[in-house]
Amino acid sequence: MDLINALETRRSVRKYADRPVEREIVDKLIQLATQAPSAMNAQPWVFAVFTDKTKLEEYSTRAKALVLEGMHEHPLLEKYRGALSKRGFNIFYNAPALVVIYAKPEGPEPETDACLAAQNFMLAAHNEGLGTCWIGFSRYLLDSAEFKAEVGIPTEYVAAAPMILGYPAVDHPPVPRKTPEVYYF
Ligand SMILES: Cc1cc2nc3c(=O)[nH]c(=O)nc-3n(C[C@H](O)[C@H](O)[C@H](O)COP(=O)(O)O)c2cc1C
Repeated sequence: MDLINALETRRSVRKYADRPVEREIVDKLIQLATQAPSAMNAQPWVFAVFTDKTKLEEYSTRAKALVLEGMHEHPLLEKYRGALSKRGFNIFYNAPALVVIYAKPEGPEPETDACLAAQNFMLAAHNEGLGTCWIGFSRYLLDSAEFKAEVGIPTEYVAAAPMILGYPAVDHPPVPRKTPEVYYF
């Protein structure tokens, strides 16, 4: 797949085949993610890969509760209250893997660096025939001190980019883009 095609056809995938992602492929995607630029070449990214589907369901339930609890601070999320209140709604869409890029406090812009690595990761996954979707809802859990202590992630690491990963079960149609606001000087 050439780069332009990859940029134009990558989609957020929310329906996955019941098929695990091979470890070698995940390792390859991580390696490609680390080709991203980073401020002062700090490379402050750390990758956490979760593949236990039962645990992911549990994390989904806990993340939904946290989002609902803190909803008053994020009124924009109000429109998701209905979905997040449904027991059957898994914020990870039953994907076989969740890859979280944590930013460690190194360099001047660790979270920005982690997000750049994430975009590389998503495009590289697309190139391998895999789908990804960034799951912002999950940050409430993944960045909590309690969760980090539980799984053994240092508490000062920031959950910057949580992405699910798996083989898409269906084709995803293009998502329209707004015309960008551009100023030339
Ligand atoms: C920071 C961020 C947070 C997101 N959070 C979620 C999420 O929690 N759940 C979800 O289904 N999609 C989430 N998305 C995916 C967006 O909805 C998606 O990128 C957007 O609708 C455009 O579609 P596309 O990625 O297919 O081009 C998130 C994307 C970003 C960049």
